[in-house]
Amino acid sequence: MKDRFKILVSTEEIQQKNIDLANQIVRDFGTEPFLLLSILTGSFIFSADLCRAIVTAGGDPIIAFLSASSYGSQTTSSGNVSLTIFKELSLSSKRVLLVDDILDTGYTLSHIKNYVLAHSASFCKTAVLLDKPSRRKVSFSADYCGFTIDDHFVVGYGLDLNDQFRSLPYVAIIQDT
Ligand code: XMP
Repeated sequence: MKDRFKILVSTEEIQQKNIDLANQIVRDFGTEPFLLLSILTGSFIFSADLCRAIVTAGGDPIIAFLSASSYGSQTTSSGNVSLTIFKELSLSSKRVLLVDDILDTGYTLSHIKNYVLAHSASFCKTAVLLDKPSRRKVSFSADYCGFTIDDHFVVGYGLDLNDQFRSLPYVAIIQDT
């Protein structure tokens, strides 16, 4: 199965990066509770590993989820972001860390950050595992970024192609498409 994929970021690199990001986050957020808002579906593995690394580093994240979809077709962003919030989510006066798998055009995170701030969060920072700055359509940068990559469509570690390949323990390019 590994032959189908060209590994771009290995399991070991991801593990070490999660520790580094968690240390940066705890330096900024301190030991008081904050809301870690995981953007489904792609960030579910990154969020799970990151929140445990944050706890190990001394932080206290409260976990909540929302779902965002911005893709009109398989791999092209539509720019129209729709949000689904799974339970009553009070953002008022909360310190929020938004966690997403990848920053691409920037539509998704900029839309959600605006939503969070418009609902009276005291501040909102953003963490992404991957960043593809060459694809940006709106001016946006993440506060915490794992890896900057070139313009490849990637799968694994939560990222999918038609719901496949999310469970791969690394980030990869598919060789045969
Ligand atoms: P935008 O364009 O709004 O995109 O910054 C963020 C969302 O787009 C998805 N995305 C990808 N998903 N491989 C994927 O599996 C990719 O290379 C990729 N690029 C963007 C992803 O859902 C992300 O949250």
